[in-house]
Amino acid sequence: MKASKKASKTIVTAALPYANGPMHIGFLLEAIQADIFARSLRLSHQDILYICASDMHGTPIEINAKKAGLEPEKFVEKFWKEHRADASSFLVSFDNFYKTHSKENKELSEYFFTELKKKKYIYIKNMDVIYCPNCQRTLPDRYVRGTCHLCGKADQYGDVCEGCGSVLKGTDLLNPKCSLCGTTPHIKSSPEYFFKLSTFAGKLKKWINSKSADLQPEVKNWLKEWLDKGLEDWCISRDAPYFGFEIPDSKKECGEVKYFYVWLDAPIGYISSTKNYCDKHGLKWGDYWKKGEVNHFIGKDISYFHFLFWPAMLMAMDIPLPKLTVHGFITVNGQKMSKSRGTFFTAKEFYKLYGAEALRFYYASHLQRKVVDVDLNFDEFAAVVNNILVGKLGNFCYRSLTFAEKNYAVLPAAAENKAMTKKVISLSDKVVKNYLAQDYHAAVKNILLIADMGNAYFQKTEPWKNKEDAKTGAAVSWCVNLARNLAILISPVLPEFSGKVFGALGEKDLADQAFDSIHFKWKGKIKDVPLLINKVEIVRKETFPLRLTIGKILEVKDHPNADSLYLLKVDLGQLGKKQVVAGLKKHFRKEELQGVKAVFVANMKPAKLRGEMSEAMVLAADDGAHVGLLEVKDMDLGAEVHFEGTENSHQEITFDEFMKLTMTVQAGRVFYSGKKLISTSEEVKVHGVNDGARVR
Ligand code: 2FM
Ligand code: ZN
Repeated sequence: MKASKKASKTIVTAALPYANGPMHIGFLLEAIQADIFARSLRLSHQDILYICASDMHGTPIEINAKKAGLEPEKFVEKFWKEHRADASSFLVSFDNFYKTHSKENKELSEYFFTELKKKKYIYIKNMDVIYCPNCQRTLPDRYVRGTCHLCGKADQYGDVCEGCGSVLKGTDLLNPKCSLCGTTPHIKSSPEYFFKLSTFAGKLKKWINSKSADLQPEVKNWLKEWLDKGLEDWCISRDAPYFGFEIPDSKKECGEVKYFYVWLDAPIGYISSTKNYCDKHGLKWGDYWKKGEVNHFIGKDISYFHFLFWPAMLMAMDIPLPKLTVHGFITVNGQKMSKSRGTFFTAKEFYKLYGAEALRFYYASHLQRKVVDVDLNFDEFAAVVNNILVGKLGNFCYRSLTFAEKNYAVLPAAAENKAMTKKVISLSDKVVKNYLAQDYHAAVKNILLIADMGNAYFQKTEPWKNKEDAKTGAAVSWCVNLARNLAILISPVLPEFSGKVFGALGEKDLADQAFDSIHFKWKGKIKDVPLLINKVEIVRKETFPLRLTIGKILEVKDHPNADSLYLLKVDLGQLGKKQVVAGLKKHFRKEELQGVKAVFVANMKPAKLRGEMSEAMVLAADDGAHVGLLEVKDMDLGAEVHFEGTENSHQEITFDEFMKLTMTVQAGRVFYSGKKLISTSEEVKVHGVNDGARVR
């Protein structure tokens, strides 16, 4: 194959994941998509850097750090380290995985800001913000709950209504409440910084038209819609308390300190991560960003930021505009990834179950530079990995290499096999083009065609029948060369698999593994062929019959017809407020229960108990002497907890069915057949009961 010409310096990025929780397999879709592209460019001798970072600022991080009892700096640092390790376990070859809470990013954000201000693209204007007098903070839309002013659905977040799907502003909500403390917030006027996005409408339109051929059709439609609707100027400041960078001079100009909105400094993080790398390696970030080419990979949900805000900022700074690839979401067995449905997988969990390359191969065979969702269907996953990856590609490489190792001290030159060799070279050319066009689905398909040819040839040649024959040696050598070429071609997807093949061939040099080193001239000795790839066995999550949901006791009253019972009014978050009949009167005074956050069973069949409806059940542990609730402190109302390795059923359950379940307490934690009750954020605790207490 011909060597491709050397191009200018290139940046590849994956969107910066928030340092706000464990990495999940949704982020890996993007990181792997961009990684395959980055590796393909490297194998084409391009001068590239694959750049990423932790996105460390914003209100959710500030609030979650507080909940975790950590300083935000400590909180984000912990996830930065975890994310870096997770990405690397999935063989994502970031040249730099840096952070937005960094000296470089602070300097560059301030530099962008002052330049834009100098150029009069930034101004201050009063705007209405929602303020919680109890929390003493301005509330982002996401942190206000209330009734949708359009469809009347109660208990909606202030950014989008789940009832009618409308995009909302927090100030739209009727009967708004602070989602942190339940207080009714008020609207206040506050001076904020704005970026004149509207000024850039014409230029953005021009850019988009000039790049029309490159834009994915869905993206083109969105952009048209957004631009037709008109662009509003963009508020780039936030009020204290906030975890982010202070805006220079804001105290003087606004009377109080303001911070850069996380979405201002996050994309600048792409540059500051590049700068951090370049400073350490004697390079200049400007050579990449001002003279080279930038390729962003992003999810569809952050298109507005990357196609409008970010390019407008870059234009204002006279920095050339990037190329962008948008992908869809990942679904699991056809469903949205969701913790309560058991379709949520962290990177760590998934790695432990199936390793890195199975997922990389599965994703690659589905990715096409299209804005469609990718479904991780476990039956298909098993079939793709076991029958195709292991059964075809793995099998051909392994049988060729082990056969050669066992039977030939030194392999002779490969058979000529003119027609087939030509076919392989032409398919290889296609594969390289497929990669560079980000059509990995086609790349994998063409690679499998080559593997099929190899398997058929090996089968037809029957080398085990006359190993000594010179012709047979040459045929085996051709197969080994083919395995080597396949390893080169699949290496952007399966770097470890390919590395094992190169190891057995004694090819350690990267130059031997580039796309232009595909040929049939390899000969020599094969040594120590390892197992190349493993089959996967799908581990299904067990269903646990209860929907274990966090609720808060709002009110405690005596049951009118029963001496031992209370009537509780309970807030179950998005499931609404429920009445619960509870036999707790002997054990708790009313004020001991009032305001407690605990675990409830939300899928009990509603039943009348002594004439009063009970719509859910409160769980309590009882050791015969003492009774304790299953308490949590900071979890959101309506969130679910589950026993390790199980998913909650959402189907209604009767009291008799419930009574058959045995949950017990050990050392203040709840267990069900050896599995601990867990949540993603904090421990569920039971106080004051002895080991062995039954939960019901
Ligand atoms: O949506 C997100 O997960 C953001 N953290 C992505 C930021 S990408 C870039 F702009 F920094
Ligand atoms: Zn509040």
